[in-house]
Amino acid sequence: MVGLGPGSEVHRTPGALNALVASQVVVGYAPYIDAIGDRLDGKQVVRSGMKGELERVRQALDFALSGRDVALVSSGDAGVYGMAGLVLELAEAEGLDLSIEIIPGMTAAQAAAAALGAPLMLDWAVVSLSDLMVPWDRICRKLSGIAYGDLCCVLYNPRSRGRRTLLRDALAILSRDRPTTIPVAAVREAGSPTQTIHRGTLGDFPVDLVDMKSLVVVGDSTTRWTARGMITPRGYVEKYGA
Ligand SMILES: C[S@@+](CC[C@H](N)C(=O)[O-])C[C@H]1O[C@@H](n2cnc3c(N)ncnc32)[C@H](O)[C@@H]1O
Repeated sequence: MVGLGPGSEVHRTPGALNALVASQVVVGYAPYIDAIGDRLDGKQVVRSGMKGELERVRQALDFALSGRDVALVSSGDAGVYGMAGLVLELAEAEGLDLSIEIIPGMTAAQAAAAALGAPLMLDWAVVSLSDLMVPWDRICRKLSGIAYGDLCCVLYNPRSRGRRTLLRDALAILSRDRPTTIPVAAVREAGSPTQTIHRGTLGDFPVDLVDMKSLVVVGDSTTRWTARGMITPRGYVEKYGA
């Protein structure tokens, strides 16, 4: 399992590159395969489409069972809404005698946070707004907990083709008992040369500009916009002075 990082080559770890070099077969969602096109010479490549997750993992396991060294690639980190869990679940359920290594990658939240400044300096949570696998009422409970605990959070999968209101509803829950002035930002294609940022607040955010290539960073009640970006103070200045 190889996490390729979020946007561009500079965010790819040496560990991920070494695993690619060592592999005989590379399996992945077509856009992720395209992103590493210059690393695939001499390898068998299996590109799959969206929603082919189970089949993709199945194919990778079958190649591995036939004795090949396989890299199953994910964007970001393979263990953050990626395929790592499914690989381990199938291997366990089927009692497969395979050596499986999870190579960590930088998750998109880290690239987005860096692009914005330092919004994740304190405790923070990550929630996917995708209700394909998790019922919406369960997602709402998680969001309520974040509002109750006044945590910063990063929202993955903020937009669905079927449901246009996910993000609007999520921001409304995150506003409960908190100032609507809390900073919010969407980062699209974080870490890539085409990265774009939309800024706003919990009470006033351009949700229609957010798509599935974006994630949304929401501050806590101490987070503020500064000339250099979004900051959630760690508390040093308050404790020791500037
Ligand atoms: C299935 S999740 C994959 C997450 C990935 N495994 C990771 O660790 O970053 C896909 C969602 O991640 C977010 N995402 C992935 N790459 C991104 C990027 N470069 N910029 C902004 N959001 C990104 C988007 O919200 C997208 O809908």
